[in-house]
Amino acid sequence: MNRKTHFGFEQVDEKDKEKKVGGVFSSVADNYDLMNDAMSFGLHRLWKEILIELSEVKSDSKVLDIATGTGDIPKILLSKHNTIEVHMTDINASMLSNGYKRAVNENFHSNTYFSVASGESLPYKDNSFDLITVGFGLRNFTNKEDGLKEMRRCLKSNGVLLVLEFSKPQNSLFSKVYDWYSFNIIPRMGKFLANDSESYKYLAESIRMHPDQVTLKQMILDGGFEECKFFNLLNGIVAIHKAYK
Ligand SMILES: C[S@@+](CC[C@H](N)C(=O)[O-])C[C@H]1O[C@@H](n2cnc3c(N)ncnc32)[C@H](O)[C@@H]1O
Repeated sequence: MNRKTHFGFEQVDEKDKEKKVGGVFSSVADNYDLMNDAMSFGLHRLWKEILIELSEVKSDSKVLDIATGTGDIPKILLSKHNTIEVHMTDINASMLSNGYKRAVNENFHSNTYFSVASGESLPYKDNSFDLITVGFGLRNFTNKEDGLKEMRRCLKSNGVLLVLEFSKPQNSLFSKVYDWYSFNIIPRMGKFLANDSESYKYLAESIRMHPDQVTLKQMILDGGFEECKFFNLLNGIVAIHKAYK
């Protein structure tokens, strides 16, 4: 029998999830940056800045940004550390192509390398990177455990893993307001700004299906990482998990 997983609130065969996620991101690719700013009131920029502050990056670090999309994380990293090498990878060619065009147009393409690849099967040798980042990507993976194992394999010993992802608000009243916003406003915003409410309905649902802070921390430790800590942002709507190989 085919193994099942979730695609938002829908149960799907594991073998079909990647294609469905691919459909969402191909559909949102051209309006991705606009929608990100609108939905988070620009706060995602601050969350990514905080991620970089935690990165322990050095002048000669070799970095892999998985699920890079339009390249927000590499852009901030390279604006602060222009001697590092950054590999940008994403499973979706439309998203990565927009990331590549942006890197050229906004002049952060020197020392960058691009590759279409799944975070669950990375085309890099063992022990290649000092830092691996994943921003709002992990919840879309079909098999997060496989992804975490691949990240560990590609990190150097003592290398840093940083996962930025939606998580679980800690305050119940705040959580209710956030639910209302996610299921009522975000799909409407998607319809209005990007003519695509379905993809943004998936976004809200996929966030609810993603493991909470404590569960994800345990998954990271079970994947063989050491010293996993998490930092809640905006009452836990978003969390950054940091761990070492
Ligand atoms: C919400 S976007 C995040 C983009 C960027 N990291 C950011 O923070 O703005 C999620 C990205 O994950 C990518 N993605 C989804 N599943 C993936 C997988 N299994 N492996 C690698 N990338 C994946 C999508 O194509 C999309 O570009």
